[in-house]
Amino acid sequence: GRLLPLARRTLCSSAAASAAKEASNSYKVALLGAAGGIGQPLGMLMKLNPAIDRLSLYDIMATPGVAADLSHVNTAAKVSGFVGDDQLGEALAGSDLVIIPAGVPRKPGMTRDDLFKINAGIVKGLCEAIAKHCPQALVNVISNPVNSTVPIAAGVFKKAGTYDPRRLFGVTTLDVVRARTFLSEKKGLNPAGVDVPVVGGHAGATILPLFSQAVPKVDLTQAEVEELTKRTQEGGTEVVQAKAGKGSATLSMAYAGALFADACLQGLSGKKDVIQCAYVASQITDLPFFASKVRLGKGGLEEVYDLGPLSDYEQKLLAEMKEQLKCNIDKGIKFGQEN
Ligand code: NAD
Ligand code: LMR
Repeated sequence: GRLLPLARRTLCSSAAASAAKEASNSYKVALLGAAGGIGQPLGMLMKLNPAIDRLSLYDIMATPGVAADLSHVNTAAKVSGFVGDDQLGEALAGSDLVIIPAGVPRKPGMTRDDLFKINAGIVKGLCEAIAKHCPQALVNVISNPVNSTVPIAAGVFKKAGTYDPRRLFGVTTLDVVRARTFLSEKKGLNPAGVDVPVVGGHAGATILPLFSQAVPKVDLTQAEVEELTKRTQEGGTEVVQAKAGKGSATLSMAYAGALFADACLQGLSGKKDVIQCAYVASQITDLPFFASKVRLGKGGLEEVYDLGPLSDYEQKLLAEMKEQLKCNIDKGIKFGQEN
């Protein structure tokens, strides 16, 4: 019994010491669309991230409840809920990273491009507020169609005079997560050690997993490569169909979004060699936006890696998908110019 208070004191002081250490690397993250299918589990994962000391949850509805709920989790991040346009500025002020999963999801039979009509305007409005209230923040765009919403965001920031391509990212991590999982399942590998770069964009044929560059190196027949490639490209549709009208991927997306957000924060904190795939302003092809491996650092995007050696099959898919990706990009740029 006598030892207990001492043990408690020791625990508390070491907890205080580690809290003080973390405080020097503490970031404010704002999540826009925080009450949604992705927003809620992603908010949870952000609440568990020790690099975050303030977590701002914004939505057009229901955020007070989500924030009250999450705020009871005994981790350091202080959670605040903001609802409606009037509170958006306060939600964003001082943010180091803004994550945007706001917008409508697909139903069976729809393409991601079918979401453009509604989500283009949502992303535009949110990015206008970012330009005003936290122009230095890194921005992670999850809202679909990512191939177009990222060019829309770039257009808004250009108009506002705050655009820095190093701070804008389309989140394609879920494609990487899927490619890792599907390859591991097929070959009986532990997914923890498996990596597959995924390049291009984030819709159907524009999603190009590079199984020839998988780590560890895996021998695959052409039939296996084709099957894994199709499954990765159609992973989103697989979930949309299984959910049968009740939305698209939310839990795996929250996991992927948390991985990418954490990598952004690690980069900001000065950690070396933080490499992720992301859809960014790019010069590695003739398209102005392209997903590839990138290095994250204190300034956000520090380096865009080129595609590396491609198999003949990957080269063929790359050539075939470019026109679709270009259309998606042009549509986003045009929307930005006309609105
Ligand atoms: P959802 O409908 O469950 O949630 C969306 C949330 O956004 C809702 O809570 C809604 O109130 C909110 N919202 C709408 N307009 C808003 C605004 N102006 N400001 C703030 N919040 C607003 O949808 P979801 O399943 O969470 O999906 C969200 C988006 O993410 C969809 O566009 C979906 O296609 C996309 N998505 C992308 C990926 C990816 O890999 N990048 C993966 C999955 C889903
Ligand atoms: C996904 O890949 O799961 C998302 O882009 C959602 C969708 O519509 O497929």
